[in-house]
Amino acid sequence: MNKPIRKAVLPVAGLGTRFLPATKAVPKEMLTIVDRPIIQYVVDEARAAGIEHIAFVTGRNKHVIEDHFDMAYELEDTLKARKKTEALELLEKHRPQPGSTSFTRQQAPLGLGHAIWCARDIIGDEPFAILLPDVIIKSKVSCLRQMVDLYDQTGGNIIAVEEIPEDQTHQYGIVELAERINAASSEISNMVEKPAPGTAPSNLMITGRYILQPEIFDLLSEQGKGAGGEIQLTDSMISLMSKQKFASLKFEGRSYDCGSKYGFLSANIAFGMDDPKLADDLLPFMRDIVEGQRQVAAE
Ligand code: G1P
Repeated sequence: MNKPIRKAVLPVAGLGTRFLPATKAVPKEMLTIVDRPIIQYVVDEARAAGIEHIAFVTGRNKHVIEDHFDMAYELEDTLKARKKTEALELLEKHRPQPGSTSFTRQQAPLGLGHAIWCARDIIGDEPFAILLPDVIIKSKVSCLRQMVDLYDQTGGNIIAVEEIPEDQTHQYGIVELAERINAASSEISNMVEKPAPGTAPSNLMITGRYILQPEIFDLLSEQGKGAGGEIQLTDSMISLMSKQKFASLKFEGRSYDCGSKYGFLSANIAFGMDDPKLADDLLPFMRDIVEGQRQVAAE
């Protein structure tokens, strides 16, 4: 019987330089997709996968994330007095149970691997999940839930992967696959963090969702700098691969890299179109924009 996945790490210490000046005073994880901050989508995904405890690895100027997942007493009291039941229920639905979150700080921006290592004491000696909050995933079943279902059969370590165009492989971690486990999953034989253009072993990107065994922490504690001069999680996973199994999962759904302007805007459109009322207004609006572009191009 595999040990259950009860805890998740969400590294939220990043500076968000790609979104300045929006992220000067507001953490990038608090930018909104339709009506919820990005981080809320990621926490909802984790909770839908049965995660009981979330460890946020934060940095300076990120207090507002902690506030977002706390009870806003004055606000909720006022909503109660005004009988705004729907708004109150919405807040309650998205609030984690008391005591089910932890916040620790990554004191210096040394890389993703270092950020995960900062959560070692909160996770302890059990397998756990990692969700990178730059990425949100639109799927019928929570992506992490799909990974936990696979993990229940295979154990070991699981990485969510997705096909990307060849000319983007240098921006991500890339995996190479070996034997098939089932239609959606294979054993992983190799990984590379941000391979130089033209050298990627495949076009399968590490999507930012992981289930890892706790042995990763010892490897992270000794991990030297890798791609971009940072301590990379991928490099410690490569070391762990010599001792433990890693499986890929081509999950059902689509990821949006909200760390990029294109990903952020397309997520807003994709999630906005899910709301039938918004879709009624958005669709004709988008048709007008496209039509306008065509006319300008034709002139
Ligand atoms: C991180 C990981 C990379 C992964 C990516 C997904 O990179 O190191 O393997 O493909 O997230 O978004 P970062 O975006 O932090 O540079």
